[in-house]
Amino acid sequence: MHPLLNIAIRAARNAGNVIIRALPHIEHLEIEEKGKNDYVSEVDRLAEQEIINTIKKAYPDHAILAEESGESGDNDTVWIIDPLDGTANYLHGFPQYAVSIAVVVKGRIEHGVVYDPRSDELFSASRGEGAKLNDHRIRVTNRRHLDGSLMATGFPFRFPELQESYFKSFHAVFSKVSDIRRPGSASLDLAYVAAGRVDGYWELALSSWDIAAGMLLVEEAGGIVSDCEGNDSSLKTGNILVSNVHLHKQLLETVQPHLAGVTK
Ligand code: IPD
Ligand code: CA
Ligand code: CA
Repeated sequence: MHPLLNIAIRAARNAGNVIIRALPHIEHLEIEEKGKNDYVSEVDRLAEQEIINTIKKAYPDHAILAEESGESGDNDTVWIIDPLDGTANYLHGFPQYAVSIAVVVKGRIEHGVVYDPRSDELFSASRGEGAKLNDHRIRVTNRRHLDGSLMATGFPFRFPELQESYFKSFHAVFSKVSDIRRPGSASLDLAYVAAGRVDGYWELALSSWDIAAGMLLVEEAGGIVSDCEGNDSSLKTGNILVSNVHLHKQLLETVQPHLAGVTK
């Protein structure tokens, strides 16, 4: 295993321990509203610190882009960290949240880890080496038509100005697929596409830490990643649409009329 992936996994597991240890105390956690509908708890901050400490021990010079503490360092290698993706779920005791860590080298995502500490499911990928769930290789589904497919999505709950366009895209997809899930953790949504648990996923206005690791998982599991207009701006715009090769064009053609030019 590549040493960078090894450290990413160690960091994710350490953060997972922090998250699970705090579970019995969620009702008493200090919670702050960072922005509209955007909450952060002391667990997010502690888990992030744990990740950064693990990385810094191995690679003191690498740069960090972390959701709660921001950017630090100047280096070709940047660690993009979401210490707890699905905070709202976690705080409500809804069991769907994960740690997401990506390693970007010279602007390219090279390694990615999404770790669900509750189920102890570790999704990981290194560029060119395929994607794994724990020790097993994973692949996107083989479905060829939207008819009968199961999609995942996320609602732009922090961006009222995007909601009308988004729900038009939701309606358009809903009319063609068998059903849609809104689990509430973008990194796991992407990991589930990679693992073939859902056929595709789209969401608007995310941040790079929500999706960087999951994007590599999907690509390495044989899927296609784009924004909602078929371009590769996802890391920048936070608009993302992923699926297997057969469904990507169909899903894109379904949402694009409603989402063209829609950004946060
Ligand atoms: C959120 C989750 C959610 C998505 C949000 C994200 P957070 O991350 O990934 O599924 O819909 O937009 O911000 O805030 O829980 O880390
Ligand atoms: Ca997140
Ligand atoms: Ca988070």
